[in-house]
Amino acid sequence: MSDAPLSPPAPIVVRREDYRPPEWLVPEVALDFDLDPALTRVKAVLAVRRNAGDGPLRLDGGGQQPLAVRVDGAKAEWRMEGDQLVIPLAGEAHSVETEVEIAPETNTQLMGLYASGGLLCTQCEAEGFRRITFFPDRPDILVRYQVKLTADQRQFPVLLSNGDRVGAGMMPDGRHWAEWHDPFPKPGYLFALVAGDLAVNRDSFTTMSGRVVELGIWVAEADLPRTGHAMAALKAAMAWDERVYGREYDLDVFNIVAVADFNFGAMENKGLNIFNSRYILADPETATDADFDAIAGVVAHEYFHNWSGDRVTCRDWFQLSLKEGFTVYRDQEFSADMGSAAVKRIEDVRVLRAAQFPEDAGPLAHPVRPESYMEIANFYTATVYNKGAELIRMMATMLGPERFRAATDLYFARHDGTAATCEDFVVAMEEGGGIDLSRFRLWYTQAGTPRVAASLTHAPGSGKAVLRLAQTLPPTPGQPDKQPQPLPLRVALFGEASGARLCDERLVVLDEAQAEVVFDGIGERPLLSINRGFSAPVIVDTDRSAAELAFLSAHDDDPFARYEAMQQLMLDRLVATVSGGDGDPAPVVAAVRATIADPTLDPAFVGEAIVLPSEAFIGDQLASVDPDAVARARDGLRQAILDGIGHGAWRALWAANRDNRYELDPRAKGRRRLKNVALGYLLADEAPDAVALAADQYRYADNMTDRLAALQLLASTRGATRDAVLADFHDRWADNGLVLDKWFTAQALSTRADVVELVEALARHPAFTLANPNRARALIGAFATNQRGFHAADGRGYRFVADMLIALDRLNPQTAARLVPPLGRWRRFEPGRAALMKAQLEHILAAPRLSKDVYEQASKSLG
Ligand code: PHE
Ligand code: ZN
Repeated sequence: MSDAPLSPPAPIVVRREDYRPPEWLVPEVALDFDLDPALTRVKAVLAVRRNAGDGPLRLDGGGQQPLAVRVDGAKAEWRMEGDQLVIPLAGEAHSVETEVEIAPETNTQLMGLYASGGLLCTQCEAEGFRRITFFPDRPDILVRYQVKLTADQRQFPVLLSNGDRVGAGMMPDGRHWAEWHDPFPKPGYLFALVAGDLAVNRDSFTTMSGRVVELGIWVAEADLPRTGHAMAALKAAMAWDERVYGREYDLDVFNIVAVADFNFGAMENKGLNIFNSRYILADPETATDADFDAIAGVVAHEYFHNWSGDRVTCRDWFQLSLKEGFTVYRDQEFSADMGSAAVKRIEDVRVLRAAQFPEDAGPLAHPVRPESYMEIANFYTATVYNKGAELIRMMATMLGPERFRAATDLYFARHDGTAATCEDFVVAMEEGGGIDLSRFRLWYTQAGTPRVAASLTHAPGSGKAVLRLAQTLPPTPGQPDKQPQPLPLRVALFGEASGARLCDERLVVLDEAQAEVVFDGIGERPLLSINRGFSAPVIVDTDRSAAELAFLSAHDDDPFARYEAMQQLMLDRLVATVSGGDGDPAPVVAAVRATIADPTLDPAFVGEAIVLPSEAFIGDQLASVDPDAVARARDGLRQAILDGIGHGAWRALWAANRDNRYELDPRAKGRRRLKNVALGYLLADEAPDAVALAADQYRYADNMTDRLAALQLLASTRGATRDAVLADFHDRWADNGLVLDKWFTAQALSTRADVVELVEALARHPAFTLANPNRARALIGAFATNQRGFHAADGRGYRFVADMLIALDRLNPQTAARLVPPLGRWRRFEPGRAALMKAQLEHILAAPRLSKDVYEQASKSLG
């Protein structure tokens, strides 16, 4: 006997190359639920048919024991191998019946069947269905479902599942039942049921072929008045998918249920989407403009999954981006069509740079189509979702709208009703769009963000300008050497003297390591506008001077490139200051002044353009981050912009963008955005009149956008005003969980020097709980993005997050694992912080009974 401490076995690694077709198929299943929060009984009858091989039937489980197993009606032989139920079967087709008992009210992982706010609901993606019943829980097993739900009528008057309701009735004992049939075969991860006391916002949509679909958004009675925006978004999304992709809805009902406890944003279960309530409930008093936009985007996203996810699903979880990348691209384009396309693109790129670029540059970097995982829940990442969407966007850009549509039509027609792969999608793009994407496939296999060095030369008199491009792709874990990927770069040239565009925009596809592009007929000194619209998800390094960037920030006719010129101008100054070089703010001040003064610009765009890059993004430009130096540089530039433009001018801008009455249209939203950016500058030095102005805005606001903007800014100040508005906000919204989340987040993001202590105290507030993922993210998740607090030099921020993470892991491993990546960035920080961060990763790994979710992320982060 060894006396070494017992360490748990390392989790099994699942590899993409190990995919094998299933040995058994399940054409049909009948499920019978006897629902009760304490003890739910689930009977399943699976029709199984041999597909390949000669092995026994293997059904995945989630820790439950089978109470009974019958094959073709008779007691049968079975055994457990780990969590798998193994049943030897003699013939080609059988009926297999199992029975289990589960306890939804003790399910804190929120995977499988669980209780939330008096409801019973399910979450099955990716591997939650096995926690409900023994089943081949893999996405390439497509099954037709018949579901019978029985529950106490008073406690659970509403019983919902996928598809159509085919029957319902009362039982003599006060219980009732409902039966639902879903005609579309689907994998287990798309199964859903909901039982509860719910009210419904009903509406209908008439499809392009004239079918009437009954729509329902189900929420607690008191929340009904906050469902209108989600319903409008749903109908807009249904119409948009018909018009833009030719996709019609296919069932007679489409239901959405909002629940308070949910690990992610929402889930696309066939005909019965289940949402985190934060992506359904909104009214002007409780939701910000950003919330309204997020609701429309997520409602559309889940609806679009009906085709890109449900009708065509994934063969295995390595193909996750097949449905997620494509569906994110679809929801981004929908939102762009519904509002300002320019501002939407700026927001999407900001998200990509804040979440995906750091992931791709760190220890958890993985390709859009990963090669292996320990826990698939860890791969619902910005890379799979947002970089995946950029891959689709690049293909759409190279094909153009008509050919892209022909290609998606081919994809849907060819793979409808099947479980497909990323390769299938690319082949459809090639055949439907008439393009060769051989080299483009590298985007699916290579991790890392490409860097492009671009320099433009012009020989006066020759009329020729030459653009030299070179790309590199840095090494990432397991991938030391990389090949060049095709990068579609939209490029244009502007004349410095004339201010005019000197050529038509060109789409340059850089598919080698280096290339030269020649422009003819260039009679004056040209300036380079490159990666317009952010046509490729890359980092572009140019040698453009501050004067050139300032010029482009005033003259570029591509809104994204114009925004980008301003951001680059700011970033260059900030990086120079941090590195002890020339950080003269004058060019930035002048460019901000010109942008504010330009009457042709949309206020929403101005608001985006003049916002300083975040401290985290500034850090991403540095070889080794000293958060204090970054904070000083950013504060200094903010102060210089405040002083350079002048308090009076900022106040005038604030006043000019004030409206007397709240409206939700894009113009009013843009004005609010610009007004609140102006308020942010005014508060840079906490001048008493600016604090008073923010307090007034807080007090007299007729909407949450303005109220929260003021609250957030005041949360970084010191003094009685701050304490008073925070107390007021708390008391006003103490019984609205979603609004109280904002109260926690506003404080977690504070730039005050004592933010760590404030956040530690908030974790002891009676309203704080780790059991609700929104609340945990609102405080801990938000704090981990606060570069000043989280990276406090004494390591107290790291320790706080690590301890919370360990406590959360006992309840909800998926949500806990999402707190690891901020600590995993230790290599990017100066040595003192890096050591402190590493120590906390080691502390996490030493915790007893660690989940495989957290184990995978923490061990890879140290590796
Ligand atoms: N498939 C969901 C979506 O993106 C996300 C999700 C994954 C939700 C896992 C819950 C669990 O729309
Ligand atoms: Zn999705």
